[in-house]
Amino acid sequence: MTPHLTRRTLLAASAAALVLPRAARAQPITLTAAPVTAQILPEGDPATAMLGLNGSSPGPEIRVRQGDRLALGFENRIGAPSALHWHGIRIDNAMDGVPGLTQNEVADGSTFDYAFNLPDAGTYWYHSHNRSWEQVEQGLYGALVVEERDPPRVDHDITVMIDDWRLQEDGTLVGGFGGMHDFAHGGRLGNFARAIPSVREVRIGDRIRLRLINAATARIFPLALSGLDGQVVALDGMPLQAPRPFSQLELAPAQRVDIIGDVTGAVVFDFPTNSGPYELARIEANGQNAAPIGGPIPTLPPNHLAMPAPNPPLLELRMEGGAMGGRHAGDDIWAFNGQSGMSKTPFARFTPKDTARIRLINDTAFPHGIHLHGHHFHEVTPEDTPGDLRDTTLVEAGASRDILCVFDNPGKWLLHCHMLGHQASGMKTWVEVA
Ligand code: C2O
Ligand code: CU
Repeated sequence: MTPHLTRRTLLAASAAALVLPRAARAQPITLTAAPVTAQILPEGDPATAMLGLNGSSPGPEIRVRQGDRLALGFENRIGAPSALHWHGIRIDNAMDGVPGLTQNEVADGSTFDYAFNLPDAGTYWYHSHNRSWEQVEQGLYGALVVEERDPPRVDHDITVMIDDWRLQEDGTLVGGFGGMHDFAHGGRLGNFARAIPSVREVRIGDRIRLRLINAATARIFPLALSGLDGQVVALDGMPLQAPRPFSQLELAPAQRVDIIGDVTGAVVFDFPTNSGPYELARIEANGQNAAPIGGPIPTLPPNHLAMPAPNPPLLELRMEGGAMGGRHAGDDIWAFNGQSGMSKTPFARFTPKDTARIRLINDTAFPHGIHLHGHHFHEVTPEDTPGDLRDTTLVEAGASRDILCVFDNPGKWLLHCHMLGHQASGMKTWVEVA
């Protein structure tokens, strides 16, 4: 079955923001994971039984400020073991949320206390990291926004979660999350997609910041935006050195893009398809801002990451396997360097502050979005310089990409494909910084 996106008019309710009152930071916050009913299909269509946090899927948006410490209790009531990963945060290893590597599974009915510092401003997200191909697909995720200490002036700061779901006509999530056919191909693609903006209405002339987050387990979203005269200011949370114009965007699973721009009309998020644009979301523009902020799009203040050392060692990570001729020596569908799944010894060991250059070679017939935990890395540019900082990089079928990383965060860190079905069927390894 080739999934097709059904064309429906979309209407979405936004998840409530959980803005942490700064004075009450010491107060315990609890995120409770449990079954929820979510209106994924448009209002009037049937609702969908899913998993959520604090009653909704996506879970509440968590907003904190750079330099804050986030402490929260995770309470698991989903009926199966789980754990939460704080994607993109340069986090204390013990808080990274990876069962079997950094913590034990959080059993149903029990809790786990997460507490960590937030060194970098930017757009991040949290999601289940236990049977993630199933639990993320069922809705266990939410936005995590770390505001700058001195944020750029905008009229609205809008988070936009993007996802797809494989639904029956009656709104039920199609089961069989671990389908081998999906895993061996591009992963589990949905037949219905939409974006969920946290603000539903703006004015013409408003300056807005969009924080796009691709929460899909497999789908790479191409995205066309209209009604906004704006530029990209950050990727995967990390500010660009200068704002960058764009025509079309592309977000691999787990990637984020921040845009700042001025509203010129209804802000429409379209997924371009062969049969025309598929509308993912729309923010209505009503009225006119009489005193627009205007002026050039600001550059965000940089986060402070160590620069890579010159002439680092080169390591190779070869993606192998999958349908359509991908060969390897591992014992599951996918492999890195002939090894499927976790090995006893890490792919590489580093001493803190080591720089390494890793060549990500895609020797398969599918694109892969490779994610490193606990660090950001530079994508090496065609001029062989350290380019954009990312935590997830998309490598097309047959292509390769070099990344440069300063391994300065001690611990055991996963390195895996964020097409979560690929990760589940072999495409993961780990590195150790000690
Ligand atoms: Cu977004 Cu290993 O995860
Ligand atoms: Cu993959």
